Amino acid sequence: MESDCSQLLENGFTDEFIKLTHDFTGITIKPEKRSMLEGRLRRRLRVLELADFTDYLSYVKKNQAEQEEFINAVTTNETYFYRTPRIWEYISEQFLPQWHARVGSRSLSVWSAACSTGEEGHTLGIILQSFKDKHTGFDYRVKGTDIDSSVVEKARMGIYKGRAVQRFREAKPELFKQYLVGNDDAGYEVPPNIKSRLDFSALNLFDECRDMEKYDLVLLRNVLIYFVKEDQIAAVAAIHKRLHSGGVAIIGESESLNHVPCDFVPILPTIYKAVPVGVEQQAV
Ligand SMILES: C[S@@+](CC[C@H](N)C(=O)[O-])C[C@H]1O[C@@H](n2cnc3c(N)ncnc32)[C@H](O)[C@@H]1O
Repeated sequence: MESDCSQLLENGFTDEFIKLTHDFTGITIKPEKRSMLEGRLRRRLRVLELADFTDYLSYVKKNQAEQEEFINAVTTNETYFYRTPRIWEYISEQFLPQWHARVGSRSLSVWSAACSTGEEGHTLGIILQSFKDKHTGFDYRVKGTDIDSSVVEKARMGIYKGRAVQRFREAKPELFKQYLVGNDDAGYEVPPNIKSRLDFSALNLFDECRDMEKYDLVLLRNVLIYFVKEDQIAAVAAIHKRLHSGGVAIIGESESLNHVPCDFVPILPTIYKAVPVGVEQQAV
């Protein structure tokens, strides 16, 4: 194991794998995360029974199925239900009543971009269903996408236990009881009326849009931190294109668009409203 690691460093393969990671995902691996990258790729070496990183590098460059495994290995998928309570309160108490009063007549369309294993999309389902249960005529759809195909599979299954649901259970016991069915051993899932409104698929944020569905609300949380500024600009512009005029984008609590030129204006910390292209620059 030691020799694998030192060989990788000595041969300068780390830089090759860092470049490959960026080419495939837009993720920039920081110098302090190099050993994490090596550890994750070493697992692929073991699965494939390859002798060393030289072999793995040429294998992954040529083999499309392995490229998918490579992407799944290099992504960090940390997530849980009701992450950052403040934004869920904003959605329930401000965004939804305002949207319902202003637009109301069609279904609300929400996108959990970089959804990981789906906890964010399922939290959205619960919050939106709870609003629907109190507001006749309101309906919604939630799309969840992620570049990592293995987490998308888990999001589709939608069964959660332990840490994934713990904070939600503590913060919102009544919502937990009303909208999650199951038990601690088997896990919990949302009922069919919510599940039928959720749709999860694999998508790289940097790929050209296959469809041009527009959204009223996009959650792009805890993924910009993995990108350098120029890639953040591209990701945020791609989100802007997919938002209805006046739509809202929410980013992660350790992220900011302060230094990212874009067509969004802040409403609250980490919560932004889309403005027409160019308006923001003119205003400055
Ligand atoms: C830390 S998780 C965030 C999950 C969730 N949004 C949250 O805040 O709890 C970051 C996710 O971004 C995904 N990701 C990274 N690069 C991506 C890209 N280029 N396109 C789509 N998803 C990406 C990863 O696979 C990972 O699941």
